[in-house]
Amino acid sequence: MRSPLSLLISPIRGILFLALLSLPCSSMALDSATRSADSVLTLTPIRYANTSTLSIAYYDSAPSDSAAPVAILIHGFPYSIDTYVDVVPKLAAKGYRLIVPYLRGYGTTSFLSPTTPRSAEQAALGKDIIDLMDALSIDKAIFAGYDWGSVAANVAAALWPDRCTGMVAANSYLIQSRRAAWAIAPPASLATRWYFYVFLTPQGYSALASDARGWAATLWSKNSPQWNWTQAQLDAAAPAFRNPDYVDIATNFYRNRLLYAPGDPAYADLAGQLDSLPIIQVPSVTLDPDQAPVFPATNGSSTAQHFAGPRVHHIVQDCGENIPLQKPQVFAEAVLEVAALGKRPY
Ligand SMILES: *[C@@H]1O[C@H](CO)[C@@H](O)[C@H](O)[C@H]1NC(C)=O
Ligand SMILES: *[C@@H]1O[C@H](CO)[C@@H](O)[C@H](O)[C@H]1NC(C)=O
Ligand SMILES: *[C@@H]1O[C@H](CO)[C@@H](O)[C@H](O)[C@H]1NC(C)=O
Repeated sequence: MRSPLSLLISPIRGILFLALLSLPCSSMALDSATRSADSVLTLTPIRYANTSTLSIAYYDSAPSDSAAPVAILIHGFPYSIDTYVDVVPKLAAKGYRLIVPYLRGYGTTSFLSPTTPRSAEQAALGKDIIDLMDALSIDKAIFAGYDWGSVAANVAAALWPDRCTGMVAANSYLIQSRRAAWAIAPPASLATRWYFYVFLTPQGYSALASDARGWAATLWSKNSPQWNWTQAQLDAAAPAFRNPDYVDIATNFYRNRLLYAPGDPAYADLAGQLDSLPIIQVPSVTLDPDQAPVFPATNGSSTAQHFAGPRVHHIVQDCGENIPLQKPQVFAEAVLEVAALGKRPY
């Protein structure tokens, strides 16, 4: 049985105290990388909600208990909401209402206006979560994500803490200041981020447009090298890439992050706030997979300055970047853990 390194990080009198804990993580190592051929691969039915800019396609576990606590589960690139297919039943069994939205540019989420800029900037991804909550009359929720979903969860939790009861984020803190966008990185790090730079070019745009499924296959393998994903899983995800805005949104995320594409002026104020790297004050559980080359696992100390509330950090063993699909039990337990963290006096 593996026991993930756990760090409890809490601010006491302005000083960060780090304590190594041995948390009860017995079930964290139980997920199998294999799944039976007849297991469910997709979340259905899909519902729709309008915000001021989008018609958001989402799955809602819709429990009969209207007072059920809500967790919003946010996917990454290049993935679909179906990465949460095994997380949803685990949390539903614990009384949660799960909302799993397609990000802008994915699945059947669509822009209401042809003239809205197809921006995938971090401010827009975070604001979309809050707008969806408004559309569904959800006051507070846990935000949980990986990859782009971590960006969205980080932004929404940092800028709207009163809407967030807790955050679960792979890679801890991915909010970016534009001032650091051109910071020089070591070659070994850049080599794992090759596609960020390919997507800056017209050739990268055309390549993604001509073979989105092939790109997903390559990135799944490169970014989670030990994950034996199945063709059935890729088949389940592929419709998410057939959105008419998929290529614009996917490439804009990287172009905007690297300052090769301006943001949508509608988000200028939020984008400015994000440049100051706002502190996340809500209870947080952060997860670093140990087999995800783009963001090598850390012990959490390098991102501690971005958190002011109670925070627990885990390294997830034998896992690539797509934690919810590869280790659904670990991801579900992180949501339960952050909920408990929020209830504990601190
Ligand atoms: C969203 O807005 C569109 C365009 O105004 C409308 O046709 C559609 O019925 C709305 N959908 C929902 C779920 O309200
Ligand atoms: C993945 O497949 C390889 C090659 O078949 C095998 O050696 C490895 O054990 C598998 N990994 C897992 C986690 O099942
Ligand atoms: C965490 O990692 C940093 C950088 O690698 C190291 O300096 C620090 O000692 C580590 N902290 C703990 C508690 O292991």
